[in-house]
Amino acid sequence: MPTPVAAEDLLRRRKRGFSLEAPFYTAPEIFDLDLDIIFGRHWIYVGVDPDLPEPGDCMTVELGAASILLIRGEDMQVRAFHNVCRHRGARLIDEHKTSVGNIVCRYHQWTYGEDGRLLFAEHMGADFDPKCFGLKRVNLRNLAGLIFVCLAENPPVDIEAMAAAMEPYLLPHELSNCKIAHTSELIEEGNWKLTMENNRECYHCSANHPELTIPLFAYGFGFAPGELDDEGRAQAEGYARLRTDCHARWEACGLPSAEIERLNTAVTGFRTERLPLSGDGESHTMDTRVASKKLLGSFTDRKLGGLSFWTQPNSWHHFMSDHIVTFSALPLGPERTLLRTKWLVHKDAVEGVDYDLDNLTKVWLLTNDQDGALVAMAQAGTRQPGYEPGPYSPYTEELVEKFCDWYIGRLSTHLLPAASRVAAE
Ligand code: FES
Ligand SMILES: [Fe+2]
Repeated sequence: MPTPVAAEDLLRRRKRGFSLEAPFYTAPEIFDLDLDIIFGRHWIYVGVDPDLPEPGDCMTVELGAASILLIRGEDMQVRAFHNVCRHRGARLIDEHKTSVGNIVCRYHQWTYGEDGRLLFAEHMGADFDPKCFGLKRVNLRNLAGLIFVCLAENPPVDIEAMAAAMEPYLLPHELSNCKIAHTSELIEEGNWKLTMENNRECYHCSANHPELTIPLFAYGFGFAPGELDDEGRAQAEGYARLRTDCHARWEACGLPSAEIERLNTAVTGFRTERLPLSGDGESHTMDTRVASKKLLGSFTDRKLGGLSFWTQPNSWHHFMSDHIVTFSALPLGPERTLLRTKWLVHKDAVEGVDYDLDNLTKVWLLTNDQDGALVAMAQAGTRQPGYEPGPYSPYTEELVEKFCDWYIGRLSTHLLPAASRVAAE
Protein backbone atom coordinates (compact mmCIF):
# COMPACT_ATOMS: atom_id res chain seq x y z
CA MET A 1 0.00 0.00 0.00
CA PRO A 2 1.42 3.42 -0.86
CA THR A 3 2.38 5.75 1.95
CA PRO A 4 1.88 9.50 1.49
CA VAL A 5 5.46 9.58 0.17
CA ALA A 6 4.61 6.91 -2.38
CA ALA A 7 1.63 9.03 -3.49
CA GLU A 8 4.08 11.85 -4.19
CA ASP A 9 6.27 9.48 -6.19
CA LEU A 10 3.28 8.31 -8.17
CA LEU A 11 2.39 11.92 -8.99
CA ARG A 12 5.94 12.78 -10.06
CA ARG A 13 6.31 9.85 -12.39
CA ARG A 14 2.87 10.04 -14.04
CA LYS A 15 3.40 9.58 -17.77
CA ARG A 16 1.32 11.97 -19.85
CA GLY A 17 -0.95 10.36 -22.42
CA PHE A 18 -1.15 7.13 -20.45
CA SER A 19 -3.73 5.77 -18.02
CA LEU A 20 -2.87 6.10 -14.34
CA GLU A 21 -0.92 3.61 -12.29
CA ALA A 22 -2.98 0.98 -10.46
CA PRO A 23 -2.86 2.50 -6.94
CA PHE A 24 -4.74 5.55 -8.21
CA TYR A 25 -7.68 3.22 -8.82
CA THR A 26 -7.31 0.78 -5.95
CA ALA A 27 -5.37 2.10 -2.93
CA PRO A 28 -7.36 3.29 0.11
CA GLU A 29 -4.64 5.90 0.82
CA ILE A 30 -5.06 7.49 -2.59
CA PHE A 31 -8.82 7.36 -2.17
CA ASP A 32 -8.47 9.26 1.11
CA LEU A 33 -6.36 11.88 -0.67
CA ASP A 34 -9.03 12.12 -3.38
CA LEU A 35 -11.70 12.77 -0.77
CA ASP A 36 -9.59 15.34 1.02
CA ILE A 37 -8.07 17.21 -1.91
CA ILE A 38 -10.41 16.66 -4.86
CA PHE A 39 -13.81 16.28 -3.22
CA GLY A 40 -12.98 18.37 -0.15
CA ARG A 41 -11.50 21.42 -1.89
CA HIS A 42 -13.21 21.74 -5.27
CA TRP A 43 -16.71 22.55 -6.45
CA ILE A 44 -18.74 19.36 -6.52
CA TYR A 45 -21.96 19.04 -8.48
CA VAL A 46 -24.65 17.57 -6.22
CA GLY A 47 -28.12 18.32 -7.60
CA VAL A 48 -30.54 20.68 -9.27
CA ASP A 49 -32.85 23.47 -8.20
CA PRO A 50 -35.93 21.24 -8.77
CA ASP A 51 -34.59 18.79 -6.17
CA LEU A 52 -35.90 21.32 -3.65
CA PRO A 53 -38.97 22.93 -5.23
CA GLU A 54 -40.64 24.28 -2.05
CA PRO A 55 -39.50 26.14 1.08
CA GLY A 56 -38.56 23.58 3.74
CA ASP A 57 -37.49 20.96 1.19
CA CYS A 58 -34.26 19.26 2.28
CA MET A 59 -31.77 17.02 0.56
CA THR A 60 -28.72 15.32 2.00
CA VAL A 61 -25.61 14.49 0.00
CA GLU A 62 -22.75 12.33 1.26
CA LEU A 63 -19.27 13.43 0.21
CA GLY A 64 -16.87 10.98 1.79
CA ALA A 65 -17.17 11.36 5.56
CA ALA A 66 -19.09 14.62 5.20
CA SER A 67 -22.86 14.66 5.12
CA ILE A 68 -24.21 17.89 3.64
CA LEU A 69 -27.70 19.17 4.20
CA LEU A 70 -29.29 21.39 1.56
CA ILE A 71 -32.47 23.27 2.41
CA ARG A 72 -34.63 25.81 0.60
CA GLY A 73 -35.69 28.76 2.71
CA GLU A 74 -38.86 30.86 2.66
CA ASP A 75 -36.82 33.36 0.65
CA MET A 76 -36.45 30.57 -1.98
CA GLN A 77 -32.67 30.50 -1.51
CA VAL A 78 -31.01 27.10 -1.22
CA ARG A 79 -28.39 26.91 1.53
CA ALA A 80 -26.01 24.11 2.49
CA PHE A 81 -24.84 23.11 5.96
CA HIS A 82 -22.93 20.31 7.56
CA ASN A 83 -25.59 17.78 8.57
CA VAL A 84 -24.30 17.74 12.15
CA CYS A 85 -25.94 19.05 15.31
CA ARG A 86 -23.87 21.69 17.14
CA HIS A 87 -24.82 20.16 20.50
CA ARG A 88 -23.23 16.71 20.57
CA GLY A 89 -22.89 16.07 16.90
CA ALA A 90 -25.91 13.93 16.05
CA ARG A 91 -26.72 13.61 12.38
CA LEU A 92 -29.68 15.92 11.79
CA ILE A 93 -31.45 14.62 8.69
CA ASP A 94 -31.32 10.92 7.83
CA GLU A 95 -33.32 10.83 4.62
CA HIS A 96 -31.89 11.69 1.21
CA LYS A 97 -34.93 13.92 0.67
CA THR A 98 -37.53 15.23 3.07
CA SER A 99 -39.42 18.37 3.97
CA VAL A 100 -39.22 20.16 7.33
CA GLY A 101 -40.49 23.24 9.14
CA ASN A 102 -37.38 23.87 11.15
CA ILE A 103 -34.47 21.48 11.45
CA VAL A 104 -34.99 19.68 14.77
CA CYS A 105 -32.34 17.37 16.18
CA ARG A 106 -34.19 14.39 17.54
CA TYR A 107 -31.62 13.78 20.30
CA HIS A 108 -32.25 16.81 22.55
CA GLN A 109 -34.45 18.90 20.26
CA TRP A 110 -32.04 21.67 19.45
CA THR A 111 -33.85 23.45 16.66
CA TYR A 112 -32.34 25.34 13.72
CA GLY A 113 -33.92 27.66 11.18
CA GLU A 114 -33.61 27.30 7.44
CA ASP A 115 -30.77 29.84 7.59
CA GLY A 116 -28.87 27.63 10.07
CA ARG A 117 -29.48 29.83 13.13
CA LEU A 118 -30.01 27.98 16.39
CA LEU A 119 -33.56 28.94 17.38
CA PHE A 120 -34.18 26.73 20.40
CA ALA A 121 -32.03 24.85 22.94
CA GLU A 122 -33.51 24.42 26.41
CA HIS A 123 -31.74 23.98 29.77
CA MET A 124 -28.53 25.57 28.54
CA GLY A 125 -28.43 28.34 31.14
CA ALA A 126 -28.15 32.10 31.07
CA ASP A 127 -24.56 32.18 29.73
CA PHE A 128 -25.35 30.13 26.68
CA ASP A 129 -25.25 32.17 23.47
CA PRO A 130 -27.23 30.46 20.71
CA LYS A 131 -25.61 32.76 18.14
CA CYS A 132 -22.37 30.81 18.63
CA PHE A 133 -23.97 27.47 17.76
CA GLY A 134 -25.60 27.88 14.37
CA LEU A 135 -25.15 25.15 11.78
CA LYS A 136 -21.85 25.22 9.93
CA ARG A 137 -22.25 26.58 6.42
CA VAL A 138 -21.04 24.78 3.32
CA ASN A 139 -20.34 26.93 0.27
CA LEU A 140 -22.99 26.64 -2.40
CA ARG A 141 -23.21 28.03 -5.93
CA ASN A 142 -26.37 27.70 -7.94
CA LEU A 143 -25.35 27.92 -11.61
CA ALA A 144 -28.46 28.29 -13.77
CA GLY A 145 -30.18 25.66 -11.61
CA LEU A 146 -27.20 23.30 -11.23
CA ILE A 147 -26.12 23.14 -7.59
CA PHE A 148 -22.44 22.94 -6.73
CA VAL A 149 -21.06 22.76 -3.18
CA CYS A 150 -17.55 23.14 -1.82
CA LEU A 151 -16.45 21.95 1.61
CA ALA A 152 -13.33 24.12 1.70
CA GLU A 153 -13.36 27.29 3.73
CA ASN A 154 -11.92 29.18 0.77
CA PRO A 155 -13.41 27.57 -2.32
CA PRO A 156 -11.87 28.06 -5.77
CA VAL A 157 -12.96 31.52 -6.92
CA ASP A 158 -12.98 30.61 -10.60
CA ILE A 159 -16.45 29.07 -10.24
CA GLU A 160 -17.50 32.62 -11.16
CA ALA A 161 -15.58 32.41 -14.44
CA MET A 162 -17.33 29.12 -15.20
CA ALA A 163 -20.69 30.67 -14.32
CA ALA A 164 -20.05 33.71 -16.51
CA ALA A 165 -19.13 31.49 -19.46
CA MET A 166 -21.91 28.95 -18.95
CA GLU A 167 -24.94 31.00 -18.01
CA PRO A 168 -25.62 32.17 -21.58
CA TYR A 169 -25.57 28.52 -22.70
CA LEU A 170 -27.66 27.10 -19.87
CA LEU A 171 -30.19 29.78 -18.92
CA PRO A 172 -32.37 29.50 -22.07
CA HIS A 173 -33.19 25.89 -21.04
CA GLU A 174 -34.71 27.22 -17.78
CA LEU A 175 -33.68 24.30 -15.61
CA SER A 176 -35.22 25.97 -12.58
CA ASN A 177 -38.57 25.80 -14.35
CA CYS A 178 -38.35 22.03 -14.72
CA LYS A 179 -39.36 19.08 -12.59
CA ILE A 180 -37.49 15.86 -12.00
CA ALA A 181 -39.32 13.17 -13.94
CA HIS A 182 -37.00 10.38 -12.86
CA THR A 183 -33.88 9.73 -10.78
CA SER A 184 -31.71 6.64 -11.03
CA GLU A 185 -28.96 5.58 -8.67
CA LEU A 186 -26.44 3.16 -10.05
CA ILE A 187 -23.55 1.84 -8.01
CA GLU A 188 -20.59 1.25 -10.28
CA GLU A 189 -17.99 -1.23 -9.05
CA GLY A 190 -15.06 0.98 -9.86
CA ASN A 191 -13.02 3.93 -8.68
CA TRP A 192 -14.70 7.29 -9.36
CA LYS A 193 -11.91 8.23 -11.79
CA LEU A 194 -12.75 5.25 -14.01
CA THR A 195 -16.37 6.44 -14.07
CA MET A 196 -15.16 9.88 -15.14
CA GLU A 197 -12.58 8.63 -17.65
CA ASN A 198 -15.22 6.44 -19.25
CA ASN A 199 -17.49 9.48 -19.54
CA ARG A 200 -14.82 11.54 -21.25
CA GLU A 201 -14.55 9.41 -24.38
CA CYS A 202 -16.79 7.79 -26.92
CA TYR A 203 -14.08 5.48 -28.27
CA HIS A 204 -16.10 2.70 -26.66
CA CYS A 205 -19.50 3.90 -27.92
CA SER A 206 -19.87 2.13 -31.28
CA ALA A 207 -19.09 -1.28 -29.76
CA ASN A 208 -20.99 -0.84 -26.49
CA HIS A 209 -23.85 1.64 -26.83
CA PRO A 210 -26.33 0.54 -29.49
CA GLU A 211 -28.97 2.94 -28.11
CA LEU A 212 -26.83 6.03 -27.45
CA THR A 213 -25.31 5.88 -30.92
CA ILE A 214 -28.79 6.39 -32.41
CA PRO A 215 -28.95 10.10 -31.42
CA LEU A 216 -25.18 10.68 -31.21
CA PHE A 217 -23.00 11.04 -34.30
CA ALA A 218 -19.95 8.78 -34.30
CA TYR A 219 -17.84 11.61 -35.75
CA GLY A 220 -18.68 14.03 -32.99
CA PHE A 221 -16.19 12.46 -30.61
CA GLY A 222 -12.97 12.29 -32.57
CA PHE A 223 -11.38 9.98 -35.10
CA ALA A 224 -8.02 9.40 -36.73
CA PRO A 225 -8.33 11.13 -40.11
CA GLY A 226 -5.62 8.95 -41.68
CA GLU A 227 -7.61 5.80 -40.94
CA LEU A 228 -10.80 6.82 -42.78
CA ASP A 229 -11.80 5.29 -46.11
CA ASP A 230 -13.56 7.41 -48.73
CA GLU A 231 -17.00 6.78 -47.26
CA GLY A 232 -15.81 7.59 -43.75
CA ARG A 233 -14.15 10.77 -44.96
CA ALA A 234 -17.34 11.87 -46.71
CA GLN A 235 -19.35 11.20 -43.53
CA ALA A 236 -16.87 13.08 -41.35
CA GLU A 237 -16.94 16.06 -43.71
CA GLY A 238 -20.72 15.94 -43.79
CA TYR A 239 -20.81 16.01 -40.01
CA ALA A 240 -18.38 18.93 -39.84
CA ARG A 241 -20.59 20.90 -42.28
CA LEU A 242 -23.71 20.06 -40.30
CA ARG A 243 -22.08 21.23 -37.10
CA THR A 244 -21.01 24.52 -38.68
CA ASP A 245 -24.49 25.09 -40.13
CA CYS A 246 -26.27 24.17 -36.88
CA HIS A 247 -24.00 26.40 -34.81
CA ALA A 248 -24.74 29.33 -37.12
CA ARG A 249 -28.48 28.69 -36.92
CA TRP A 250 -28.55 28.26 -33.15
CA GLU A 251 -26.29 31.23 -32.48
CA ALA A 252 -28.56 33.37 -34.65
CA CYS A 253 -31.43 32.39 -32.31
CA GLY A 254 -29.43 33.51 -29.27
CA LEU A 255 -28.20 30.05 -28.29
CA PRO A 256 -24.42 29.98 -27.86
CA SER A 257 -23.09 26.73 -29.27
CA ALA A 258 -19.32 26.95 -29.79
CA GLU A 259 -16.97 24.82 -27.77
CA ILE A 260 -15.43 26.23 -24.60
CA GLU A 261 -12.74 24.00 -23.21
CA ARG A 262 -10.99 24.67 -19.89
CA LEU A 263 -10.79 21.10 -18.64
CA ASN A 264 -7.19 21.21 -17.45
CA THR A 265 -6.47 24.92 -17.55
CA ALA A 266 -8.77 26.02 -14.73
CA VAL A 267 -9.09 24.89 -11.12
CA THR A 268 -12.83 24.65 -11.75
CA GLY A 269 -12.30 22.87 -15.05
CA PHE A 270 -15.10 22.43 -17.55
CA ARG A 271 -16.03 22.03 -21.20
CA THR A 272 -19.15 22.71 -23.20
CA GLU A 273 -20.44 22.46 -26.74
CA ARG A 274 -23.83 22.24 -28.42
CA LEU A 275 -23.74 19.33 -30.84
CA PRO A 276 -26.11 18.33 -33.62
CA LEU A 277 -27.90 15.05 -33.12
CA SER A 278 -28.47 12.30 -35.65
CA GLY A 279 -31.72 11.26 -37.34
CA ASP A 280 -34.45 13.82 -36.67
CA GLY A 281 -31.93 15.64 -34.51
CA GLU A 282 -34.23 16.55 -31.64
CA SER A 283 -33.28 14.64 -28.51
CA HIS A 284 -31.52 11.74 -26.78
CA THR A 285 -34.24 9.21 -27.51
CA MET A 286 -34.50 5.96 -29.44
CA ASP A 287 -36.21 7.71 -32.36
CA THR A 288 -34.22 10.98 -31.99
CA ARG A 289 -37.45 12.94 -31.53
CA VAL A 290 -38.41 14.92 -28.47
CA ALA A 291 -39.49 12.82 -25.50
CA SER A 292 -41.61 15.64 -24.08
CA LYS A 293 -44.03 17.64 -26.19
CA LYS A 294 -43.74 20.55 -23.78
CA LEU A 295 -40.50 22.21 -24.77
CA LEU A 296 -38.26 23.90 -22.22
CA GLY A 297 -38.12 27.63 -21.62
CA SER A 298 -39.53 29.59 -24.51
CA PHE A 299 -38.24 27.20 -27.17
CA THR A 300 -40.35 26.60 -30.24
CA ASP A 301 -37.70 24.77 -32.27
CA ARG A 302 -37.33 21.10 -31.36
CA LYS A 303 -34.02 20.73 -33.20
CA LEU A 304 -31.61 22.36 -30.81
CA GLY A 305 -29.22 19.42 -30.67
CA GLY A 306 -27.63 18.48 -27.37
CA LEU A 307 -25.83 21.05 -25.26
CA SER A 308 -23.27 19.11 -23.25
CA PHE A 309 -21.55 20.47 -20.17
CA TRP A 310 -18.77 18.52 -18.46
CA THR A 311 -17.26 19.61 -15.14
CA GLN A 312 -14.22 18.49 -13.17
CA PRO A 313 -14.23 16.44 -11.08
CA ASN A 314 -17.61 14.77 -11.05
CA SER A 315 -20.37 15.74 -13.48
CA TRP A 316 -21.76 15.87 -16.97
CA HIS A 317 -25.06 17.16 -18.35
CA HIS A 318 -27.03 17.13 -21.59
CA PHE A 319 -29.54 19.89 -22.31
CA MET A 320 -31.96 19.36 -25.18
CA SER A 321 -34.98 21.35 -26.38
CA ASP A 322 -37.40 19.13 -24.42
CA HIS A 323 -35.49 17.62 -21.52
CA ILE A 324 -32.29 17.65 -19.51
CA VAL A 325 -30.25 14.70 -18.26
CA THR A 326 -27.78 15.39 -15.49
CA PHE A 327 -25.19 13.06 -13.92
CA SER A 328 -23.29 13.25 -10.66
CA ALA A 329 -20.55 10.76 -9.75
CA LEU A 330 -19.95 10.43 -6.01
CA PRO A 331 -17.20 8.23 -4.57
CA LEU A 332 -18.37 5.59 -2.10
CA GLY A 333 -15.09 3.72 -1.65
CA PRO A 334 -11.83 3.10 -3.51
CA GLU A 335 -13.65 0.72 -5.83
CA ARG A 336 -17.27 1.88 -5.64
CA THR A 337 -18.96 4.94 -7.11
CA LEU A 338 -22.54 6.18 -7.02
CA LEU A 339 -23.81 7.53 -10.31
CA ARG A 340 -26.92 9.62 -9.72
CA THR A 341 -28.80 10.51 -12.92
CA LYS A 342 -31.80 12.83 -13.17
CA TRP A 343 -34.14 13.43 -16.09
CA LEU A 344 -35.91 16.80 -16.08
CA VAL A 345 -38.85 18.00 -18.14
CA HIS A 346 -40.85 21.24 -18.13
CA LYS A 347 -42.62 21.52 -14.78
CA ASP A 348 -46.01 21.62 -16.49
CA ALA A 349 -45.38 18.52 -18.61
CA VAL A 350 -47.76 15.72 -17.67
CA GLU A 351 -46.60 12.13 -17.67
CA GLY A 352 -48.61 9.99 -20.06
CA VAL A 353 -49.83 13.10 -21.87
CA ASP A 354 -46.74 15.13 -22.76
CA TYR A 355 -44.14 12.44 -22.19
CA ASP A 356 -43.77 8.73 -21.68
CA LEU A 357 -41.32 7.95 -18.88
CA ASP A 358 -39.91 4.85 -20.55
CA ASN A 359 -39.23 6.74 -23.76
CA LEU A 360 -37.70 9.66 -21.83
CA THR A 361 -35.28 7.53 -19.83
CA LYS A 362 -34.53 4.57 -22.07
CA VAL A 363 -31.36 5.68 -23.86
CA TRP A 364 -29.50 6.80 -20.76
CA LEU A 365 -30.74 4.05 -18.43
CA LEU A 366 -29.40 1.45 -20.85
CA THR A 367 -26.24 3.45 -21.52
CA ASN A 368 -25.54 3.85 -17.81
CA ASP A 369 -25.87 0.10 -17.28
CA GLN A 370 -23.51 -0.55 -20.17
CA ASP A 371 -21.03 2.01 -18.82
CA GLY A 372 -21.28 0.56 -15.30
CA ALA A 373 -20.28 -2.86 -16.67
CA LEU A 374 -17.34 -1.31 -18.57
CA VAL A 375 -16.15 0.52 -15.45
CA ALA A 376 -16.32 -2.71 -13.41
CA MET A 377 -14.36 -4.51 -16.11
CA ALA A 378 -11.68 -1.83 -16.16
CA GLN A 379 -11.51 -1.80 -12.36
CA ALA A 380 -11.00 -5.58 -12.27
CA GLY A 381 -8.09 -5.15 -14.67
CA THR A 382 -6.34 -2.53 -12.55
CA ARG A 383 -6.21 -5.05 -9.69
CA GLN A 384 -4.26 -7.58 -11.74
CA PRO A 385 -0.46 -7.85 -11.61
CA GLY A 386 -0.38 -7.65 -15.39
CA TYR A 387 -1.87 -4.14 -15.44
CA GLU A 388 0.33 -1.27 -16.51
CA PRO A 389 -0.73 2.17 -17.77
CA GLY A 390 -1.61 2.06 -21.46
CA PRO A 391 -1.64 4.83 -24.11
CA TYR A 392 -4.68 6.98 -24.78
CA SER A 393 -5.78 7.52 -28.37
CA PRO A 394 -4.69 11.04 -29.32
CA TYR A 395 -7.84 11.36 -31.44
CA THR A 396 -10.57 9.92 -29.25
CA GLU A 397 -9.26 10.05 -25.69
CA GLU A 398 -7.90 13.55 -25.55
CA LEU A 399 -10.47 14.50 -22.94
CA VAL A 400 -9.60 11.50 -20.79
CA GLU A 401 -6.02 12.74 -20.77
CA LYS A 402 -7.28 16.21 -19.81
CA PHE A 403 -9.23 14.73 -16.93
CA CYS A 404 -6.15 12.86 -15.67
CA ASP A 405 -3.95 15.89 -16.25
CA TRP A 406 -6.32 18.05 -14.21
CA TYR A 407 -6.49 15.42 -11.45
CA ILE A 408 -2.71 14.92 -11.25
CA GLY A 409 -2.26 18.70 -11.37
CA ARG A 410 -4.68 19.32 -8.52
CA LEU A 411 -3.16 16.63 -6.28
CA SER A 412 0.34 17.87 -7.13
CA THR A 413 -0.54 21.44 -6.26
CA HIS A 414 -1.57 20.32 -2.80
CA LEU A 415 1.02 17.60 -2.19
CA LEU A 416 4.23 18.42 -4.02
CA PRO A 417 6.66 21.20 -3.18
CA ALA A 418 6.58 23.89 -5.89
CA ALA A 419 10.04 23.06 -7.32
CA SER A 420 9.32 19.40 -7.97
CA ARG A 421 5.89 20.30 -9.32
CA VAL A 422 7.53 22.32 -12.08
CA ALA A 423 9.85 19.37 -12.78
CA ALA A 424 6.85 17.05 -13.07
CA GLU A 425 5.13 19.38 -15.54
S1 FES B 1 -27.04 16.17 19.77
FE1 FES B 1 -28.51 17.37 18.76
S2 FES B 1 -29.68 18.19 20.36
FE2 FES B 1 -28.20 17.00 21.38
FE1 LIG C 1 -20.27 5.05 -22.38
